[in-house]
Amino acid sequence: MIIAIDGPAASGKGTLAKRIAQSFGYAHLDTGLLYRAVARDVASSGANAEDESAAVARANALDPATLNDPSLRAAGIGEAASLVARFEGVRAALRQFQREFARRLPGAVLDGRDIGTVVCPDADVKIFVTAATEVRARRRFLELREQDAPVTYEDVLARILERDARDAGRSSSPMRPAEDAILLDTTNLDIEAAFDAAVGLIKRKIGQ
Ligand code: CDP
Repeated sequence: MIIAIDGPAASGKGTLAKRIAQSFGYAHLDTGLLYRAVARDVASSGANAEDESAAVARANALDPATLNDPSLRAAGIGEAASLVARFEGVRAALRQFQREFARRLPGAVLDGRDIGTVVCPDADVKIFVTAATEVRARRRFLELREQDAPVTYEDVLARILERDARDAGRSSSPMRPAEDAILLDTTNLDIEAAFDAAVGLIKRKIGQ
């Protein structure tokens, strides 16, 4: 069983994917961490996130054991991740790991931008999570404030808009819902309600 959960920045897809995996007893992979880790490794090698050959080299050398690094969630890494994620060589290097992960038994939940379209086009269930941009910015702002990051709401909103435009506009695996994805708008749903709605969609889709 493969469940693909895609959506824009701070749409709640990560929390949702984690909860779904826990409740069905499946493995969970936050694929954004792969791109964040490549961005981290490019920076620590002294290169710039715009440097394609450095990014591809770091993606090929990525050690998945380093994905638990809490600094990957820090403010700023999301933007650098979205810069390295434009490069097809980076995406290709990370694809096999994601596809192998998706084959885990009894099932796997992967969240990202291109899981339903490119990584796992044959996924059993595809959900595309959306929410109004201002709501997503508010959620991310509150999250970053919890980490004591010195950010303003306006900053977070501007960065989310810029990142979404870059992720949706790139030529390699752009962020978009798969044709057979179910849309889940969480603008007016808290995490509990979004989780209940997603479980309902999954059960209906797999005929339980
Ligand atoms: O948590 P948030 O939604 O802010 O971001 P993330 O899921 O950790 O992803 C960080 C960046 O990685 C995104 O802005 C994308 O550019 C890239 N990404 C991607 O291209 N494809 C994926 N499957 C997952 C993330």
